Amino acid sequence: MKKLTTLNNGIEIPYLGLGTFLAHGDDCAHAVEFALRHGYDLIDTAQGYRNERQVGKGWKASGRPREDIFITTKISYGNRGYDEALQSFASSLEDLQTEYVDLVLIHWPDIQDFDRTIDTWHALVELQEQSKSRSIGVSNFTIPLIERLLETTDVVPVVNQVEFHTFLYQQDLLAYCQNKGIQIEAYSPVAKARFFDHEDLRKVAQKHAKTPAQVMLAWLVNHNLVAIPKSVNESRILENADIFFELDNEDMQILDHIEPQTRLVKELGVFDD
Ligand SMILES: NC(=O)c1ccc[n+]([C@@H]2O[C@H](COP(=O)([O-])OP(=O)(O)OC[C@H]3O[C@@H](n4cnc5c(N)ncnc54)[C@H](OP(=O)(O)O)[C@@H]3O)[C@@H](O)[C@H]2O)c1
Repeated sequence: MKKLTTLNNGIEIPYLGLGTFLAHGDDCAHAVEFALRHGYDLIDTAQGYRNERQVGKGWKASGRPREDIFITTKISYGNRGYDEALQSFASSLEDLQTEYVDLVLIHWPDIQDFDRTIDTWHALVELQEQSKSRSIGVSNFTIPLIERLLETTDVVPVVNQVEFHTFLYQQDLLAYCQNKGIQIEAYSPVAKARFFDHEDLRKVAQKHAKTPAQVMLAWLVNHNLVAIPKSVNESRILENADIFFELDNEDMQILDHIEPQTRLVKELGVFDD
């Protein structure tokens, strides 16, 4: 199976990345180093995770050349606005010890004052023009919010990073984004390890001699979604990388219809459900 997909600006992104939310200190640096040495080429961080310095440290320790790997960071909600985004991004580059990132996202939209979000977007466009980020995108954007953004800009986000897993199969958002050429990047892709006992998941896992986490991640990749599972544990980092296997139609039917469906991350009043 293919390990990379191509974004709407022609840049390739790996289907698998390491998430780093709640990864701190030496645990974070070690997880990044270990992952980059064991099959991961993408690291997902954010200003709000307060671990960009550790991510930079882990990458350097891995010895991987910069151009071999894909680094994503995000402008935090607190740094929204044109000047704030540019200034905070400069610190992100410094902490990450890099001249550029591969992707920078607006972490959360401001639904009370969407103009601020548009200002942040203009800063991201500027960063891309200055080659400080190879591509730019959004996170936690609903369909109406993407529509509002697209009314104000010709630059279509390459990615919308959203919560997406077998227990939150957002078909409408996926169809909409695919139609616009926006890649969905799935966060909380193993649903924070909360549903591994689910009978349907276990059934498919047993059939393929895989774990429930691997099945959840393979389901995403089989839907052509990028997945960024977080772990600071070596064996789980390895487990989460062994996900490039085919699920057949019967498996996909089962996984596409899992109940209950539930959203785990609800912040800033963005989502109705
Ligand atoms: N854009 C956004 O607003 C947003 C929001 C949330 C997350 N994210 C990004 O997406 C990444 C992933 O999401 P997430 O961290 O919320 O959830 P997740 O990756 O679904 O789950 C992470 C949790 O599951 C555990 N885990 C991971 N793999 C496991 C396995 N194979 N077996 C058992 N337990 C396992 C981890 O513990 P251990 O570390 O102990 O293994 C951790 O507690 C984040 O780290 C972050 O980079 C972005």
